[in-house]
Amino acid sequence: MPPQAPAAQEYARFVLVVILLFFLSSSSDNGPPPGFAGSPRDYAAAKVARQRRNLDVLNTTQWEDFAPRAADEPRFLNLTGFRAEDDLLWDRLGAFRERAALFTDEAGGKWRLDRETQLRAGVLGEVYENVTGIVVGRWVRYTGDLEGGEERHRRYNLSQVTPEVEWSGNEELWDRNITGTEGKLMLRVDERDVEAVDVEGLSLGSGWVREVAATMTIQDESSSGDGWDMRIHGVHWPRQGVMLMTTTSDKFAGLFGLPHLTMDMNHFTSSKMLLNKTLEKTVEKMEKAYWTEVNNPWSSSSDGQGDSALSTPHCEYVVYVQVYPLDLGLALNDDYMDTASIVQQIEQELRFPNGAPTPPAPKMRMSTVIFSPDCGFMLESKGPPAFPSEDGDHLVGRKQEVFLHQVQSWLLVYAAVIFGQVLLLKMQSKEASTPSTVGRISIYTIAMMLMADALLFSSLSLLSATAPNIFPSALLASFAALMSVALGVRFITAVYNVQEPERRERLRVQLAAQAANTPQPSPAPTPSSAPIITAAGADTAPPPGTASAPTAQATANNTPIIIPSDQDIDAEIAEVANAASAVPRPTLPTTNQGATTPTQQVPRASNFGAVYVQFVLALTFILFVSLSALSWPVTFRTFYIHFLSVAYLSFWVPQIRRNIIRNCRKALLWKFIIGQSILRLLPFAYFYLREENVLFSEPDWKAFTALAGWVWIQIWVLAAQEILGPRWGIPKGWTEEGWDYHPILREDNVEAGGLPIGLVRAPGSPTLERVRTGDEGKKSDGPARNIRTVDCAICMQVLEVPVVAAGTDASAAGGVVGMLGRRLYMVTPCRHVFHSACLEGWMRFRLQCPICRENLPPL
Ligand SMILES: *[C@@H]1O[C@H](CO)[C@@H](O)[C@H](O)[C@H]1NC(C)=O
Ligand SMILES: *[C@@H]1O[C@H](CO)[C@@H](O)[C@H](O)[C@H]1NC(C)=O
Ligand SMILES: *[C@@H]1O[C@H](CO)[C@@H](O)[C@H](O)[C@H]1NC(C)=O
Ligand SMILES: *[C@@H]1O[C@H](CO)[C@@H](O)[C@H](O)[C@H]1NC(C)=O
Ligand SMILES: *[C@@H]1O[C@H](CO)[C@@H](O)[C@H](O)[C@H]1NC(C)=O
Ligand SMILES: *[C@@H]1O[C@H](CO)[C@@H](O)[C@H](O)[C@H]1NC(C)=O
Ligand SMILES: [Zn+2]
Ligand SMILES: [Zn+2]
Repeated sequence: MPPQAPAAQEYARFVLVVILLFFLSSSSDNGPPPGFAGSPRDYAAAKVARQRRNLDVLNTTQWEDFAPRAADEPRFLNLTGFRAEDDLLWDRLGAFRERAALFTDEAGGKWRLDRETQLRAGVLGEVYENVTGIVVGRWVRYTGDLEGGEERHRRYNLSQVTPEVEWSGNEELWDRNITGTEGKLMLRVDERDVEAVDVEGLSLGSGWVREVAATMTIQDESSSGDGWDMRIHGVHWPRQGVMLMTTTSDKFAGLFGLPHLTMDMNHFTSSKMLLNKTLEKTVEKMEKAYWTEVNNPWSSSSDGQGDSALSTPHCEYVVYVQVYPLDLGLALNDDYMDTASIVQQIEQELRFPNGAPTPPAPKMRMSTVIFSPDCGFMLESKGPPAFPSEDGDHLVGRKQEVFLHQVQSWLLVYAAVIFGQVLLLKMQSKEASTPSTVGRISIYTIAMMLMADALLFSSLSLLSATAPNIFPSALLASFAALMSVALGVRFITAVYNVQEPERRERLRVQLAAQAANTPQPSPAPTPSSAPIITAAGADTAPPPGTASAPTAQATANNTPIIIPSDQDIDAEIAEVANAASAVPRPTLPTTNQGATTPTQQVPRASNFGAVYVQFVLALTFILFVSLSALSWPVTFRTFYIHFLSVAYLSFWVPQIRRNIIRNCRKALLWKFIIGQSILRLLPFAYFYLREENVLFSEPDWKAFTALAGWVWIQIWVLAAQEILGPRWGIPKGWTEEGWDYHPILREDNVEAGGLPIGLVRAPGSPTLERVRTGDEGKKSDGPARNIRTVDCAICMQVLEVPVVAAGTDASAAGGVVGMLGRRLYMVTPCRHVFHSACLEGWMRFRLQCPICRENLPPL
């Protein structure tokens, strides 16, 4: 029993354990920081007490109690980050409010205009009340309010701001410090299970307010290339479509100070009421359970784990969002209530579909202004009025229901695509049911497809397990992928087992080469220059030279070639190592192939097991790298994605290589090649070309053209190999000669063993008669070529073979016409000649000459 298979499995287990440990150890721990004197309980109690004090401050303060840049007397709050001594860069707060108001005006916002003004200005329309969904767009840096366009930067003494917290990481380089000027922005708004209050007597719907949370992804393209994910919490005035959200951390009590950052007194009043209520609940919950949980409930870390005890400082954000009124595409009329009820009907129908006739749900559109009070920058979504709408249209997206519906339908389409792949694979494995046909197929081509399907299966099943909203279609797609994987594994096992003798043979050749290098009496070279092929097992498909005796001299001759490796290298190394421990023996010509070599003792099953383990390891590795790639900088990640795509879409390359090495054509069905190429390019087409794809990737025509072109080139190379011969375009010296089934036949071809057996110059042949009598025939035949006939032993029909006369230049037969002519007959190494179609059909079942039962090298 070879030791390598269990060793590989041990290794796999080890890797899995390491990965598991990694995931376990990277989860946050919430104990007190190392410097904290006291029990974890005290630490938690102190933390909760701070929140309670913050809540009191919120309860007792009034509008305009926070006016950091008031001319007469600046006023501050006793909240972390809002105090005078914290000295945050509040001087841009006024500009932030102005910008927000401008964007609201641009959207036709209602809270600044009374009803009459609105109607006069023609601003009609309603906003979505529930904006749960996803919007994407671009951001730009705003510096318009700054003198000289220079932002002020401050360095903070964190141990002074928050003496009770221990900060880790670099205190000067904070996370989420956006330094670029432009990038991508994604906002995922979430309004599930939210509290709401409705305060009477406030103007224009500013009394109705509710909680909201969102995940914001900011990609900074022009500078470091990093992207940041953050969770922000805040309030939403659904009737006005206004949201204000902030981050909250140990050094910034954002949510507690939020009402003081609102636009006017009405918004202050309603948001204070709401936050007083909801924060009170949260703080009460924390007080009841502080021995189990001291997490920041409003943490801005996007993984939802909360800040760990050793927090890294990051820039704080205040985010203002204005939802645009819907463009229903209907003729505007003055009936305000009508539009409103249409929007309500649309939302109702989306959420609880019961077939009511509503117009299709319009897109969701939002604009946003983002202000970081400590890092001092201001960002805004790109669009009017600062930019023409061709350059940017703020943030556009879909409501969650529409989005999920879209994901569902695309998953169904994709499931159909995978079923198509399954059908093609089934067709191919049915076609390749005999050893000789299976022997031509490159195991790597199939393995690459299998690898992709396995990755797909794992991610789809993860998706169907974690996203209940799209469960049915994700399950269907993952089931299709599973079928594809199962069929692929079966096929690959078949290919692997059939190609087993080939690998053994390779090893034998290596041993022979070793033996030939050490001086020893070698057996006499074979006397005949014709290829010697001896009998071997009938059912295996030996490659050329399987049964011959490859000694140094013999290989120099005209012997059918020994094929170099295109198989699994590691298994080979293991085999060699294994064999090396056996006694090296002089290689003798053996007719019984491989029976005396040590590798014969390696059982197949364990061999395939080793390959299987490697396959799983490679899969785990790719999954692991891809998971960590999610947090890489954008440029690296893009490079990685492109690299993976190109590597995956090179799946025909191993087949091209195998065709060249084995000098064989027709390994795969054309249906399979074309079908798989198209089906496997379809997902790329979707993500690279479709503007509104579910991953929000931007259309990239160039990249897709390059990828599709690469597949296209591979198909053309395969086609050229099929038509012009597998080694077409390859310099002669690069590959070892295989047996040429379509040689140029010459009368004086003595070195190559003469003409095929049984050719007669039969004048009685009807076809020949016709050729001879026809004037054209004489001319085209020319004096240099003549035609011989023989009865094909398979179909018993006459076979005409053009033969180049002695002493003439064979180049006349070398042109394309001559080459196509030579494709009509096939000459075996045992000098029997058949119709190409007949022998190819025969060789699908037997690799033996139908006449003399000599072994045949595969096509
Ligand atoms: C909040 O402030 C009001 C007065 O403005 C006071 O009556 C009430 O007790 C305060 N509530 C809390 C929980 O501090
Ligand atoms: C602010 O609150 C702290 C306790 O959190 C208190 O010790 C301090 O006196 C307060 N400062 C002012 C100006 O009220
Ligand atoms: C930061 O503040 C702490 C406590 O107030 C003080 O001891 C320390 O020297 C300050 N560090 C710097 C760099 O100013
Ligand atoms: C943010 O980046 C700017 C530019 O690199 C730098 O000057 C500033 O100190 C950084 N701010 C923080 C808080 O790291
Ligand atoms: C908003 O819509 C989402 C998705 O349908 C739903 O889960 C959520 O409860 C809704 N929120 C409100 C406040 O209606
Ligand atoms: C805040 O909530 C507390 C307790 O729920 C209540 O006593 C207080 O009056 C509220 N304050 C305001 C300003 O609504
Ligand atoms: Zn025939
Ligand atoms: Zn023969």
